[in-house]
Amino acid sequence: KPIVLSGCQPSGELTIGNYLGAVQQWVNMQDSHQCFYMLADQHAITVRPKPEDLRKATLDGLALYLACGVDPEKSTIFIQSQVPEHAQLSWVLNCYTQMGELNRMTQYKDKSQKAEVNMNSGLFTYPVLMAADILLYGASQVPVGDDQKQHLELARDIATRFNNLHGDTFVVPEPYIPEFGARVMSLQEPTKKMSKSDTNPGNFIGLLEDTKKITKKIKRAVTDSDEQANIYFDIAEKPGVSNLLSLLSSASGKSVAELVPAYEDKMYGHLKGDVAEAVVALLTPIQERYHAYRNDEAFLNKVMREGAEKASAHAAKVLAAVYQAVGFIAKP
Ligand code: TYM
Repeated sequence: KPIVLSGCQPSGELTIGNYLGAVQQWVNMQDSHQCFYMLADQHAITVRPKPEDLRKATLDGLALYLACGVDPEKSTIFIQSQVPEHAQLSWVLNCYTQMGELNRMTQYKDKSQKAEVNMNSGLFTYPVLMAADILLYGASQVPVGDDQKQHLELARDIATRFNNLHGDTFVVPEPYIPEFGARVMSLQEPTKKMSKSDTNPGNFIGLLEDTKKITKKIKRAVTDSDEQANIYFDIAEKPGVSNLLSLLSSASGKSVAELVPAYEDKMYGHLKGDVAEAVVALLTPIQERYHAYRNDEAFLNKVMREGAEKASAHAAKVLAAVYQAVGFIAKP
């Protein structure tokens, strides 16, 4: 089976963007692929969260993966910091990555333009750690949302460079980006992507949020103030309405083309009502399962322990090949 790796940062509550852009795909790939899904807690410390917040977000994220249908019987689920090979490979790959390549990463550029951000070198080399995550498992496919495409390209470039210098060591990974849901936008600023770290909670839908609150947020979502309040899909002209249509499409499983004709004589309010209903129907069972998993500490511990063991056994082989390739002497 082809190998898959992906992860989310436990840097706040996962949003419906994380679900539709990534986790939903992870679940669908579990039978056809050998899957590794992690909580990227080492990535999350680039913004130096409070330790207790990070611990909580990591456990919440783990229970949410399970509630969304990521199945530890089928997939390896683990916490990044519990598998030391990630940090180990990351160092090696730092020496195979050019400063210029990291300087061109748009996420880094966006962050560094905000003066209030603490610009530590972890933020700069973050894409190298991400490359290590992927290359350690020989993953050929990486299911992610659209915003991770550039980081994936860098991982491909690093893998190719290393292979050219030292012989075939890494599998060169491909992004796996869904047709719909790859870029869920903010509810209040629909030209910006929905993000769990947004300071305005009106912008995102948390997977664990109270469903009445979610309905309110969707009803308050910004629509487009052109003269005719027509409902059609056009990201440039109608970013707000298009985002609602995309949300409805991915939450209901119907294509946008199938949905649009039903709104010919309808108003924005109708569309919002339908979006809210579809999102609540999607999230209610996930929330129910979440609470059961979150309170079962023994089960969460078992998933973490077994996941880290399986991940580490797999990753250690690739790391050993890399150490050999660069000239490190194996412990006698
Ligand atoms: P993160 O935590 O920002 O997001 C997790 C996943 O969710 C997707 N996503 C979205 N998809 C659609 N619409 C949105 N508004 C939206 N927001 C987020 C992301 O594309 C991602 O797939 N660096 C990664 C985590 C990571 C990783 C990895 C991913 C670390 N190592 C290795 C893949 C492979 C990140 O910060 O994702």
